[in-house]
Amino acid sequence: MAYLLGVDLGTSSVKTVLMDRHGNLAAICQQEYTFDIPREGWAEQDPVVWWQAAVATIRGALAQAAVSSDDIDGVGFSGQMHGLVPLDRQGRPVRKAIIWCDARSVDEVEDIRRLLGNERLGEITCNQIAAGFQTASLLWMKKHEPALYEKTETVLLPKDYLRYRLTGCLSTDVTDAAGTLALNVRQAAWSDELIRTLGLRRSLYPKIYLPQDFAGEVTAAASAETGLKAGTKVFHGGADQVMQAIGNGIIAPGQVSVTIGTGAQVFAPIASAIYDKQLRAHTFNNFQQDSWYFMGATLCGGLSLRWLRDTVLGGMPYREMDTLVEAVPRGSDGLIYLPYLSGERTPHMDPLARGMFFGLTLKHSRAHLMRAVMEGVVFSLRDCLELYEQLGQSCRRVIASGGGARSAPWLQMQADIFGKEVYTSKMLEQAGVGAAICAGVGAGVYESWQQACDTVIRWNDTPAVPDLKGTARYAEYRELFRALYQSNRELMHRCTALSRQEK
Ligand code: XUL
Repeated sequence: MAYLLGVDLGTSSVKTVLMDRHGNLAAICQQEYTFDIPREGWAEQDPVVWWQAAVATIRGALAQAAVSSDDIDGVGFSGQMHGLVPLDRQGRPVRKAIIWCDARSVDEVEDIRRLLGNERLGEITCNQIAAGFQTASLLWMKKHEPALYEKTETVLLPKDYLRYRLTGCLSTDVTDAAGTLALNVRQAAWSDELIRTLGLRRSLYPKIYLPQDFAGEVTAAASAETGLKAGTKVFHGGADQVMQAIGNGIIAPGQVSVTIGTGAQVFAPIASAIYDKQLRAHTFNNFQQDSWYFMGATLCGGLSLRWLRDTVLGGMPYREMDTLVEAVPRGSDGLIYLPYLSGERTPHMDPLARGMFFGLTLKHSRAHLMRAVMEGVVFSLRDCLELYEQLGQSCRRVIASGGGARSAPWLQMQADIFGKEVYTSKMLEQAGVGAAICAGVGAGVYESWQQACDTVIRWNDTPAVPDLKGTARYAEYRELFRALYQSNRELMHRCTALSRQEK
C-alpha cells in the first residue's frame, strides 16, 4: 500500500500526517512550540526548533502507524507564510526567523510604499505590503543588522527550510514566493524591478517551482534523523492557505473557505489575477500555472480566543467555553470586540491598530467576553468576504475549517454573520492532508488534482444554516464594529506610539 506524508509547519506546532492513497489517515503526530517576543510586536522562531519538531513528528507518525518507510511514495509540505529565513553560505540560519505576525517593519513598509508607490506595487504584486512579509523584514534586517544581511546568501520561506534539511535543495514554490511581496504575481517570477528599487540583492532569491514539482530525495543524513528511507521523493508543497484549501477540496473558482486557526482567513480561487485596487486584501498565486486566489486575512483569529483564555481568564478547556458562550445572546448584550491585537491586515492594512472591547457594563461576565471575541473575529471575516464579493465574485456557501469550525457556537456565528450556509469537512488536519495530496500528485499517485480531491476529501452533508433574524441582528452590530475602528483609528495609533515610547 502506498502512503503519503504531509508535514504542516504551523505557528504553534508542526503536525505530520501519514495518509494512504484513499485519504485514510494512518497517523497524525504533533509537536508544539511557541514564538519568541523579544520586544512588543516582534515575533521570531528558531528554524532549528522547526526541524527538530519535524524530525520528532515524522518519527512519531511512522511509529504510530507502524508503516514501513519503504511504503512512502512522497513527502509534501504546508507552511506558515511570509516569514524570513536567512541562510548563510553553509545553509545555516544567520539569525532566528522573523515570522508572519512580526510587526517591527512598520518603517520599512512605509519605505516600500514610498519607493514604489501604491499603484505600481499593486500592478506588480497585486497586494499591499504588510509588516511581517518577507520583503519588509529583509529590509529591516538590512538596515538594523547589516552584518547579518551581508552574511546571508539565500532567503527561504519557513517550510522551505524543512525541505532543505530533508533534501539539501534550496528552492521555493510559487504559492509561498507570492507571500514575500517580491514576486510579480501575474508573471509568477521574482520582480527584478521591485528587488532593484528596494536595493536588495537579487542573488538572495531561490528558484521557484510549483507545489507538486519534485524537489529532491531524502538524504542519508536526513534519513538517519527522521527514519524516512534515503531516496524517498520529496515535493515542494506550498503556503498553508493553499494546502489547507486543497485539503478542504477547494481547488476551483466559485468555492470559498473560511479558516479560523491562529489567524483567520477567507480564501477563494479566482480565474484571473484581479485584485482590490485599494490593496485591502490579497491576490496570490495558487498551486497551478496561471491560477490565483483571493485572500482576506484577519491576524488574530483563534489567537484572540487563546489570548483571552490563557492570559486573561487563566485557562479553561475550549469545550467548557463553548457551553458558557451558548448561554449568551447574539451580540453579547452589546459588547463588541475588535480583534486587532497585533494590528490588522484585511481590510485595514494597519500594523498600528489595537484590539478593543467596547460597550462593557456591570452585566457582562467572562462568558460575554468569550462570545464577543468569537463574534469580533467573524465580523472581521465578514469584512474580508465583502471585499471578495466587491471584486464581482460570488459565494453561495462557505466551507469552514480550523478550530473555529470545531466549536458549535463559533460555526453558527459564521452562518449567521455571513448569512450563508456553512459546511465543514470530515477531514482532519486539512493543511497536512493538502501537503500529502500535493506529494501524491507529484509522485503520480493521482492523475490530477481533481481526482485526488474526489478520492480523499469528504464534507459533512448538513451545513450550519443562518438564522434570518440572527443575520439581521448581527448586521446592526456589524455597523458598530466598523464604526468603532474608523472612530478610534487615530487614538489607536497614538496609544501604540505611547506604549512603544515607554519601552
Ligand atoms: C496568511 C498568513 C497566515 C500564516 C500563518 O497570509 O499570514 O496564514 O501563513 O499560518
